[in-house]
Amino acid sequence: MAVSAKRVGTTVGMEIPHFNPTSGPYLGRLMSTNRKERVYLPLKVGEANHIFILGKTGYGKTSFMKALAEALWEYYHENGREVLIVIFERKYDYSKFQRLKAYWTNLVNEAGLDYASKKHPYLAYYFEKKLKQEHLKQHLGYPGDFAMSLPNYLLENVLVSRRPYPVTLFTWHGLEAKAFKTRRIVFRPTRPLAAIKLDNGGKPVEVVVGRIPLRDISFDMLARKFDIPRGTAYGRILRKYWKVYKIHDPDEILRRVQQEENISGRTYESLKSILDEIRADPLYLKGSVLKPKAEKVEENSPEKLPGIYDEPKPFTDYLTTKRINIIDFSDNSELDLEEQRLIMYLLWQKIKLIAGRNRVDVWIFFDEIQDLIGTAGEASRHNLAWKAIEEIYRKGRSLSINVVAGTQYLYKLPMSLIMGAAHIAVIGALASPKDLDILRVAIMDGDRLRIPVEHGSFEEFMKRRRKKGRGWFSFDREFTVKMYFRPNQSF
Ligand SMILES: Nc1ncnc2c1ncn2[C@@H]1O[C@H](COP(=O)(O)OP(=O)(O)O)[C@@H](O)[C@H]1O
Ligand SMILES: [Mg+2]
Repeated sequence: MAVSAKRVGTTVGMEIPHFNPTSGPYLGRLMSTNRKERVYLPLKVGEANHIFILGKTGYGKTSFMKALAEALWEYYHENGREVLIVIFERKYDYSKFQRLKAYWTNLVNEAGLDYASKKHPYLAYYFEKKLKQEHLKQHLGYPGDFAMSLPNYLLENVLVSRRPYPVTLFTWHGLEAKAFKTRRIVFRPTRPLAAIKLDNGGKPVEVVVGRIPLRDISFDMLARKFDIPRGTAYGRILRKYWKVYKIHDPDEILRRVQQEENISGRTYESLKSILDEIRADPLYLKGSVLKPKAEKVEENSPEKLPGIYDEPKPFTDYLTTKRINIIDFSDNSELDLEEQRLIMYLLWQKIKLIAGRNRVDVWIFFDEIQDLIGTAGEASRHNLAWKAIEEIYRKGRSLSINVVAGTQYLYKLPMSLIMGAAHIAVIGALASPKDLDILRVAIMDGDRLRIPVEHGSFEEFMKRRRKKGRGWFSFDREFTVKMYFRPNQSF
């Protein structure tokens, strides 16, 4: 597997059209040839570059998505261009924390605390100081799937060959562990923002609290969320002011009701108690006249870290091209599915404006996309996540808005999602024989693909290690190569 660095990047046979480093970000290395040529994603202008990433759990979908986000960030910036990267994160990962802790403990045991602290000052701060503070430690230990502000130290010691001299996975790809600047948007946060920041890399992370303007919440959604019965007097009144008069400020509604309606004390009390609940919910942005104020923090409190913002403004105002944006749908945020779908839709609305106005390329990442859009049967316009995806596919092309989506099963998803993708990657193995059938149709050279389908036996589990981070990449769904995917530089 070892390859001499000098030979990398030389031109090879005609059958491989995508090895031009100026055409786009570095994807990884070919598997089938001796020279293991480097492969690049040929970015197209005025055309969608949607990428679908498929594969059974545990082979490296999330890792490759992270690597792709890193690759795009690097590519655009090396070329002096801005890019808006938005990643929907589904979960955090306690086992990742445990592996990082083991790495740190091991380093300390082998080389001593002084050496370890000099090598990784942040890990020293995190494990030796923060994790030992009583009030914080109970909240720590949950780095996100996309903890991109922490370098991926764990892969640093992975070798691809030992002889004639050791070559690590990173150096083989010409990469190194690296932290990226992120902005993490959390909604109705479930733990201290400082803990979320510390778990995801500390200083290079900004944590902001996302809010949805109440005007974006339909009455129907509100009624479901707060169990507002339809038949009641207060339900009818609230519906009238919300839906017909379009007043979405609890205080304003109460004022108007007092002035204009002749209602019983009981109806008023019911209405007021619902509006109090809405007003108290940290997800919503009430009214439109609030002035932004910085989050108040006690001197010496664990919350007092720079880079934490909790201002009354719509979450979409936080989107930035200066950092990688992470939409935190892990358990850091307390959201139901309908709210997540609404957030996805509002985000798309805003991104459409940004892309049109600023002429900036946009890349949106959805890991485990089936969780958000649901199955093929749920693909209707009432499903805001599906509506967003459908519109992105339809209108994104001319706006340079691209989607990277990952999932374990294709066959449960709407077929248009797959047929609308420019490229399809398969990592490790497929999880269902039905997906192999779909791929054979979706990919032009699909009938000659030998992609294994795995059913989770013990033998397969033992073989899994060797297949991690490897698989197939189908360019334009026309031309498929077997390759070693670029590893993720961040955690
Ligand atoms: N290129 C690679 N080389 C070695 N290990 C990898 C590689 N890519 C992923 N892994 C490891 O495989 C495991 C599963 O990866 P993950 O990206 O979470 O898979 P998935 O999202 O498909 O379930 C992780 O522990 C990750 O560190
Ligand atoms: Mg995953």
